[in-house]
Amino acid sequence: MLSNKRTALVVFILTFIVVLTIISSAYISYNDVFVIGKLYGFRAHSDQNVIDGKRIRWDTYKELVRPIDIVNSTTLFNSIYAALKQAGSDIHPIGLSYFPAMIPKGTLMYHSGKAGIPEGLEWLAMDHEFSYNFAMHGQKYGRNASNFRFHGLPGSGKKIPDGTAGGPPKGFSFDRSHFLTFRATRDLNKLFYLDGASAAKTETGEMDTQKLLSDVIEYKMNNTNTDDANNKVDNGARNVMKERLYAERICDWGKPFGLDGYVRVELGFEVVLCDFLNGSTELVSNVSLPAISDILGLPRPTNVTKENGWPLNDDGKIIEDQLTNEQKEIMDQEDYWQSILDEYTSMQGFEQIRAGNVHDSGDFRIKLDYRHLVTGVNRTIGDINPNNRRLLNDKFTFEQQIQLVDDLESSLQSGGFDPYKSNNWQKIIKEIVDKFSPMIKVMDNILNSDDELSLGQIALKTTRYTINFVNRFTGKENTVKMDDEQGEFGFGRQFAVYQYTRPEIDLATDSDFLIWSAIVNVVTEVVDTIYDINDLLMPIVTYDLGLQDISQTEIDAQESARRASERIARLISVLKWITLDYKCDRKCEWDEVCYTPSWGPSPLSWVKPEDNNATAFGMHFDDDIGRLVVNKELQCISADFLIEYNRGF
Ligand SMILES: *[C@@H]1O[C@H](CO)[C@@H](O)[C@H](O)[C@H]1NC(C)=O
Ligand SMILES: *[C@@H]1O[C@H](CO)[C@@H](O)[C@H](O)[C@H]1NC(C)=O
Ligand SMILES: *[C@@H]1O[C@H](CO)[C@@H](O)[C@H](O)[C@H]1NC(C)=O
Ligand SMILES: *[C@@H]1O[C@H](CO)[C@@H](O)[C@H](O)[C@H]1NC(C)=O
Ligand SMILES: *[C@@H]1O[C@H](CO)[C@@H](O)[C@H](O)[C@H]1NC(C)=O
Ligand SMILES: *[C@@H]1O[C@H](CO)[C@@H](O)[C@H](O)[C@H]1NC(C)=O
Ligand SMILES: *[C@@H]1O[C@H](CO)[C@@H](O)[C@H](O)[C@H]1NC(C)=O
Ligand SMILES: *[C@@H]1O[C@H](CO)[C@@H](O)[C@H](O)[C@H]1NC(C)=O
Repeated sequence: MLSNKRTALVVFILTFIVVLTIISSAYISYNDVFVIGKLYGFRAHSDQNVIDGKRIRWDTYKELVRPIDIVNSTTLFNSIYAALKQAGSDIHPIGLSYFPAMIPKGTLMYHSGKAGIPEGLEWLAMDHEFSYNFAMHGQKYGRNASNFRFHGLPGSGKKIPDGTAGGPPKGFSFDRSHFLTFRATRDLNKLFYLDGASAAKTETGEMDTQKLLSDVIEYKMNNTNTDDANNKVDNGARNVMKERLYAERICDWGKPFGLDGYVRVELGFEVVLCDFLNGSTELVSNVSLPAISDILGLPRPTNVTKENGWPLNDDGKIIEDQLTNEQKEIMDQEDYWQSILDEYTSMQGFEQIRAGNVHDSGDFRIKLDYRHLVTGVNRTIGDINPNNRRLLNDKFTFEQQIQLVDDLESSLQSGGFDPYKSNNWQKIIKEIVDKFSPMIKVMDNILNSDDELSLGQIALKTTRYTINFVNRFTGKENTVKMDDEQGEFGFGRQFAVYQYTRPEIDLATDSDFLIWSAIVNVVTEVVDTIYDINDLLMPIVTYDLGLQDISQTEIDAQESARRASERIARLISVLKWITLDYKCDRKCEWDEVCYTPSWGPSPLSWVKPEDNNATAFGMHFDDDIGRLVVNKELQCISADFLIEYNRGF
């Protein structure tokens, strides 16, 4: 009797718990779907994505990977790896994507130019060294003053002539000595970051993301038959530099969507801020900078012209042996002053380079929300060589370009970007690259070395890297199982890939799926290679142990080693990881940085990829693709190096 009652009570309580669980779980999933549905309501299939996202487990993820081939996968993988990194953006200068970005409230940004807060759009540098160097452009003294080459304007967007040699253009305003510091008064959460060397001012692909947007905006405005729109259409007839035209159009277009601006890289990252007057930033410092020559109390340089009696040749250079003794003395004095100034001014450029160099590992003040990434990758035909593909190619139709801009509009309409709700794919990718680069590099060094290693040694030294990796995913029981056999718990290649690629936050959008799929494809390639090399080489090692009967183990060691070396070489050529190819030639001293050449204006020179035979420092011309590329061996440079390099310009 008693025991029956007890049983009834237990059954009742259990039933109650089960019902409660069902109700609450139903409520939670309803709630999730509801919230997500509200956020991504404009995409009909997004709810499905979220449910998919929750199902990403070691044994199911393969079914959820979206189709994207390995070349498009590595392209996307590498561009996320390089995003907001100075060196990576210069090594692979052609960006294909629009990354939703946010700059947090409180961030300081810098602008040098005219006095007063800009009334329209303007450029803001993330590094004050960048703005400072831009502002400082003292006059030159001495014999070489007349052939001083004008190095252009970082982030200026001002009209300047194409050939930058031969001094600043006539009538060019030098009034950019007002150094303004702005502070973000709210999260600037409607920015797009354009990857690659996106401030390069070139025609070779670096500016394609801006040009595409600008072209489509022009088209859209042409087709909007309002007076307002017609007034706004600017077909480039005005005498402004292209990048300013792009900026004006992009800001006009973005206004209804609340676009704050966009982020690019020159030497240092910079923001094109669309509006300084509407309260998104405030001025917190306003300093007017004197030239170093003023600080030293130097008089103005002598006005060396023919009219003033100086012997000059047709290039405007001094003819030394026609100088009077008095003129010689004046020039000797000025040459000395210039040598003093060089010490100081070279440091202005060098400090900008160093500030850029600090961001070789990333500019962490700018944060990305990958959920709303809009990319050209997997929209158009690409190339295995990252320097040989661009967004605006013959195959990318204008209809596709319009579609891309429509997607950007949807992206902006999703509410302000929120990096904290996004997977940090760059972090996930960095962990993959950091883990596997040394393994891949060392295996390649062994398998493809010129050293006289015996096959046994090659196999041993290589499997040193593979056996422990494979073992960790295999275990005792699983050695006998086939890889595709599904068990309760994860193991094998499939689990290895899952371990390195699993999202930390549920996948929410098509962009999430695209990125994640690309990462899965890349890691699968790596893991398969490690396993395959292990399978090829372990028999050589075990054979050498002398424990087996030779007749039972027919192995062709030579052939296995050859296949292993091919396998690793192929992997490297597919991955195109910057870490596998680029490094400094030595450890730099304190007064040096390991310099990755940048495109466009820089303290070192103005490098344009279309300058086919230019002898740009640290670069060479790649005949296969017909453009300048960065040398794989990077060099240390110092401020003294800048003096040498610029001497005579
Ligand atoms: C900044 O200072 C300059 C003088 O150096 C002044 O002309 C200018 O009006 C100031 N700007 C603002 C916004 O106060
Ligand atoms: C916009 O209109 C102008 C003037 O009619 C024309 O020159 C230009 O090609 C048009 N642009 C686009 C993208 O259709
Ligand atoms: C500030 O200006 C930008 C660019 O014009 C605009 O997109 C944004 O909505 C404005 N913000 C406010 C709060 O008015
Ligand atoms: C330099 O001298 C020329 C005459 O030879 C004159 O036209 C010019 O204004 C002078 N420049 C300066 C900065 O004084
Ligand atoms: C990348 O994606 C595009 C568009 O889907 C496709 O045409 C192309 O074949 C893919 N692969 C490469 C290497 O471009
Ligand atoms: C990539 O492009 C191919 C070919 O156009 C398409 O089938 C596939 O769905 C795309 N992948 C993703 C993830 O969008
Ligand atoms: C290098 O380029 C310049 C300007 O484009 C040209 O005049 C010159 O002939 C070129 N030199 C060689 C060796 O190609
Ligand atoms: C002037 O430039 C030449 C190279 O064009 C260089 O050899 C010389 O040292 C320079 N003179 C001074 C004083 O900097």
